[in-house]
Amino acid sequence: MDVTIFGSGYVGLVTGACLAEVGNRVLCIDVDPRKIDLLNSGGVPIYEPGLEEMIKQNRDAGRLSFSTDAAEGVRHGLFQFIAVGTPPDEDGSADLQYVLAVARSIGSHMDGYRIIVNKSTVPVGTADQVAAAVSEALRARDAEVEFDVVSNPEFLKEGAAIEDFMRPDRIIVGTDNPRTGELLRALYAPFNRSHDRLMLMDVRSAELTKYAANAMLATKISFMNELSNIAEAVGADIEKVRIGIGSDPRIGYQFIYPGCGYGGSCFPKDVRALERTARGLGYKPQLLQAVEEVNFRQKDLIFNKIKTYFNDDLAGRTIAIWGLAFKPNTDDMREASSRVLIESLWAAGATVRAYDPVAMHETQRIYGERPDLVLVDDAHSALEGADALAVLTEWSEFRSPDFHAIQSRLKDRVVFDGRNILDGRLATASGLTYISIGRAPMR
Ligand code: UGA
Repeated sequence: MDVTIFGSGYVGLVTGACLAEVGNRVLCIDVDPRKIDLLNSGGVPIYEPGLEEMIKQNRDAGRLSFSTDAAEGVRHGLFQFIAVGTPPDEDGSADLQYVLAVARSIGSHMDGYRIIVNKSTVPVGTADQVAAAVSEALRARDAEVEFDVVSNPEFLKEGAAIEDFMRPDRIIVGTDNPRTGELLRALYAPFNRSHDRLMLMDVRSAELTKYAANAMLATKISFMNELSNIAEAVGADIEKVRIGIGSDPRIGYQFIYPGCGYGGSCFPKDVRALERTARGLGYKPQLLQAVEEVNFRQKDLIFNKIKTYFNDDLAGRTIAIWGLAFKPNTDDMREASSRVLIESLWAAGATVRAYDPVAMHETQRIYGERPDLVLVDDAHSALEGADALAVLTEWSEFRSPDFHAIQSRLKDRVVFDGRNILDGRLATASGLTYISIGRAPMR
């Protein structure tokens, strides 16, 4: 089948590559000529395991191509995926200008029936706005062409996006036209094999399902983070509590890891956007607001622990940081907890020596050159001349470090574990003080 994808960002590229991988002819469109040039010359503008090879193979096979020409894109595909960004507005609601610009462009160039598929995470009611924008563009040129707008939210996790697309837990298709639903069923058939994972529903329910899923996951994390603070206060160990409650299958072990807060481009933005939607409709979303507030506070936790440890005196100190990305296997630093810590340390007069397996370039891009930020090439170099170490991202390579090496390099022999991934007993056996989330410090 012929598929056009508007937006060659994270979601668009993964969707395009995976749809091409199963034999479709996919054309990816982006307004940024540099991005398209890069893709056409074999580069990939984002880091995602497996994506570069998949793009290369499908490009070489002639099934995947890239262009800035929107008109060509509209001509190409029966399916017109919209996978452009919806950055938060100042008030936290999703900014739909790019989505609606694509809709207008489709309406301006469409010459036959098209299925417009919203892949971007968009507020409930956006499909109607997209349909209105397409109709308006059609009217402006006196054209009468049929089209449908479908909501097909993505559930990709950064770092596991290819796997999530190829073997999805569910494929949500929201459409008010059963025939369109069947066409999407055919498009998704290669990803829907062992049992039927495709759920057909009305457009608004599909739009809300996406927000509901992310809000539920964010709620689990904030709940655990709140409990971790209570555990600390009452002298319990949150890791024991986690294992204790996770054994109940109704609760489950997934997504109940306490830590220094959730980040990324999805949870913070989606929780806020859902909150805005509810408020806009006159409903006060108390739980969602609390989920966000708890996360906000949690991102300050490691800084507060460091400050308390050093008796409020951080001026002139150097703190080593392991892990800058908002989670492992990505270079994404949007809303990363590391940024809150780094900026608080700077404000308190400290210097940061930081290492991340892939997010070094991104850190440099965000902060530029400055004397209080030293980016190093490996974890141990970060420790040189540092007073303390803070671990902020749960990268596998940080899980079993050489504690003796850490102890011998740090001036103050203290480690702050923002993800509870280190073995506190081994750390203390090497002479370190180990301070983590939701349990008493170990010395
Ligand atoms: C999230 C969802 O997990 C995907 O299902 C969804 O498709 C995606 O958003 C999206 O809306 O596009 P992602 O943002 O890539 O995916 O990241 P997650 O793997 O969910 O991690 C989010 C954050 O939560 C990270 O900062 C992670 O460290 C933190 N986390 C996760 C915890 O603090 N505790 C946990 O138990 C799990």
